[in-house]
Amino acid sequence: MRVRLDKYLSDHTELTRSQAKKAVRDGRVRVNGELVTKGDDKVSFSDSVFLDQSQISGGVYQYMMLNKPAGVVSATSDDEHRTVMECILGGVDQASGRPPSYVAKDLFPMGRLDKDTEGLLILTNDGPLAHRLLSPAHHIPKTYYVELDAAVDESDVQSMRSGIDIGEKRPTRPAEMEILSEHSCFLTISEGKYHQIKRMFGCLGKRVVGLKRVTMAGLALDETLAAGEWRFLTEEEIAYLKGI
Ligand code: URA
Repeated sequence: MRVRLDKYLSDHTELTRSQAKKAVRDGRVRVNGELVTKGDDKVSFSDSVFLDQSQISGGVYQYMMLNKPAGVVSATSDDEHRTVMECILGGVDQASGRPPSYVAKDLFPMGRLDKDTEGLLILTNDGPLAHRLLSPAHHIPKTYYVELDAAVDESDVQSMRSGIDIGEKRPTRPAEMEILSEHSCFLTISEGKYHQIKRMFGCLGKRVVGLKRVTMAGLALDETLAAGEWRFLTEEEIAYLKGI
């Protein structure tokens, strides 16, 4: 939902509506790093709004998608390896081309990808949303592009569909496999066991040599993001995730 900036300011600060209008006219307000001088400009909850030096969109959650590169760990801090958080802090929002004026300190990756896995990783500080979507009961689908050291065929598609005993309590849930070439496929799984895809293919006698997540919960990786790049989720993408 988008609201007028002056209304947004008076809703989120001590300013009255007329004081908010004046603050905007006086050049005290920045939206996503840009000075805004018209109170009737519209902002949404995903915009970062600053009055003077203070972020007044306090309590607002941030959501970004990162094209995680290989070699980076899905953690906020690590003594040894570069983290996904460092990718965010060291980069710019590719949608606007600017570094964000504010990055929430409590961001965390929504789920994990192995260090050598690439692709879609959502970061947020919206704990309730992440908790809900990641709950094992939710079974959100995740699609991976997989490259293998051996040829795949229809019998693998059947095995993936039937479930595979990877040594957990139960076989894996049915997974949809689409063969792309002799040595590559898309695989959609709806759970997230440790090294799950590598273990599933391992049971079929094949080694995963390349793994990239391309969709999660119906949200596709923005293909304009090079490895290591990120952007804020759009308002539509956030609303979509909240609606799942
Ligand atoms: N399955 C894996 O084996 N690794 C990942 O990073 C994700 C799914």
